[in-house]
Amino acid sequence: MTALPENLMLIITTIVAVLASIGVFFLILTRLSLVFQSSVVKSDPDTAHIYWIYKSPFWIKLTDRMFVVSSILLGQYSKLVNCVVKRLNPSLEGKRVLQISCAFGNVSEKIAESCARQDAEEFVLTDIMQSELDNAERKLKRFGKLCSYSRQDATKLQFEDQSFDYVVAFFLPHELPFDKKVAHIKEAKRVLKPGGKVVFGEFHKPRLKILEFFGRIYFKIFEPYATEMWDNFDLAEMIDDKQDDSFRFEKDTFLFDNFQVLAAKRLV
Ligand SMILES: C[S@@+](CC[C@H](N)C(=O)[O-])C[C@H]1O[C@@H](n2cnc3c(N)ncnc32)[C@H](O)[C@@H]1O
Repeated sequence: MTALPENLMLIITTIVAVLASIGVFFLILTRLSLVFQSSVVKSDPDTAHIYWIYKSPFWIKLTDRMFVVSSILLGQYSKLVNCVVKRLNPSLEGKRVLQISCAFGNVSEKIAESCARQDAEEFVLTDIMQSELDNAERKLKRFGKLCSYSRQDATKLQFEDQSFDYVVAFFLPHELPFDKKVAHIKEAKRVLKPGGKVVFGEFHKPRLKILEFFGRIYFKIFEPYATEMWDNFDLAEMIDDKQDDSFRFEKDTFLFDNFQVLAAKRLV
């Protein structure tokens, strides 16, 4: 085997060292900020689980970038969004569409585009943080009256029973503590009309052990409630809990099953 030229080795070592230092810096910064948030800052129990980035207009503006969400979702962001939009079928014409909680990137824009193209009745966005709703409104300005914004907790929605044809939640359940996850799913189902569909974009337990290993480390640091999605909170089981409604599922997974789009059509 021929040895790499000394200069090339130096360049590679420097690049790796710089990337590793940036990684460690952000890791420590984020971890410390989370510890600070949970122990020092007195929060409302309804919003204590929410990452400080989602609460601050400054940080939202700074971090709501496609390359940020694409990196976090390991290059799968656009595939996930396209799949969510594809599952809003057969037609959005005259339909009421709800997105429970805002998300970074262009997922809401893509849903709104589909709603506009197919003449949906309305697209309602909710979030527990006003700063997130303001950010969504800024991104969706061009859709005018098609979109409306309402500050609501996903675990106690203020909408009437069976009032939406489509309900979307993009990477929300993994952010919620267990009891709130359960309440959120129950609410998403409550507001869904029979024949309607609820569509989730979410993490999924990966097939590859190496992805699971690094995923657990990542979740430990950044997403304290996410491993529940792997260990004791099965999204499909939580939706179809064999009560008085019933569902038909369509599931797509991405990147060795690391991500999923789960669509559940309510049959009765
Ligand atoms: C849906 S997740 C999206 C995370 C994902 N990493 C992204 O941005 O693509 C984050 C959003 O959930 C919202 N959120 C968290 N808990 C909530 C709750 N109980 N009810 C409604 N919205 C909530 C936060 O305010 C934030 O806007």
